[in-house]
Amino acid sequence: MNPTGGSPAQPVPTRGFGFDTSIMHPARRYDYWLGGKDNFKADRASGNAIAARFPGVRTAAIENRNLGRRVVGWAARDGITQFLDIGTGIPTPSNNTHDIAQAIHPDARVVYVDNDPVVLAHARALLTSHTPRGRVAYLDADIGDPAAILAAPEFTDTIDLRRPVAVLLFAVLHFLPDDNHVRDILTTLTAPLPPGSILAVSHATYDYMPTSTRKALHTELAQHPEQHGTPTPRIREQLSDLYTATSLTPVAPGLVPTIRWRPELEPHPRDGVTDADASIYAYVARRP
Ligand SMILES: C[S@@+](CC[C@H](N)C(=O)[O-])C[C@H]1O[C@@H](n2cnc3c(N)ncnc32)[C@H](O)[C@@H]1O
Repeated sequence: MNPTGGSPAQPVPTRGFGFDTSIMHPARRYDYWLGGKDNFKADRASGNAIAARFPGVRTAAIENRNLGRRVVGWAARDGITQFLDIGTGIPTPSNNTHDIAQAIHPDARVVYVDNDPVVLAHARALLTSHTPRGRVAYLDADIGDPAAILAAPEFTDTIDLRRPVAVLLFAVLHFLPDDNHVRDILTTLTAPLPPGSILAVSHATYDYMPTSTRKALHTELAQHPEQHGTPTPRIREQLSDLYTATSLTPVAPGLVPTIRWRPELEPHPRDGVTDADASIYAYVARRP
């Protein structure tokens, strides 16, 4: 009961960008690129400005989404039943991590983490367990403080660190501009993982873009951080260095563009899609 005697107040998210729709948020811009409806003028303006410099961006978003589906299905079939999915994105009616994992393991457990209030709002409706044996939790938190995520009751009540866990960081680390911060996040999140656990990451890169595209995109992002946030595509050497810090063992095929990470697991028409269109690296590693 609240002090005025009415019904309990709904929790109000305090992190991220709040409900100010005049400011672009990565989750809504990504939704725009994917053809969704949960986006606003500022998200579309940023999305269009980026697409004007890098026309592959919509393909990159679609292929990143496809990669996530493949990795979760692969990990679940490999015996993983627990997932920590940070940077969840706006949930869809199906094909979220728990939809895929619980179709394979009805007792699968998933903790979703995001800092966007729109994701939070949808999570109440769409991110719930399909099975009484499974469990799904949602945590409104920032990946910038990974220790807080691991200490949160949503995590500790859901995930049993004596059994393997898959930590999923799809298209989220490239919103953090500082390499040292990213290294700290990766090492903190993977340190408590028991043998058999998995780290799966996807991350934007400039590596495959033609020079003119790379220059145009870099200039646009650098000149308008207030419009685009701080997306920070990284090159292979930076990512290799960051992933090596986790001391996990890479799973074949290693660090590759999304479209080259085990494409046979999810056959769909990919005619003409190039590494430059995808421009996001996939990487999966395991604690032996
Ligand atoms: C490009 S979307 C990727 C969504 C999903 N992981 C996928 O690959 O389809 C990035 C997501 O990361 C979230 N995000 C961005 N910065 C974040 C932060 N500092 N902490 C938590 N989530 C963040 C955004 O809100 C958004 O939902």
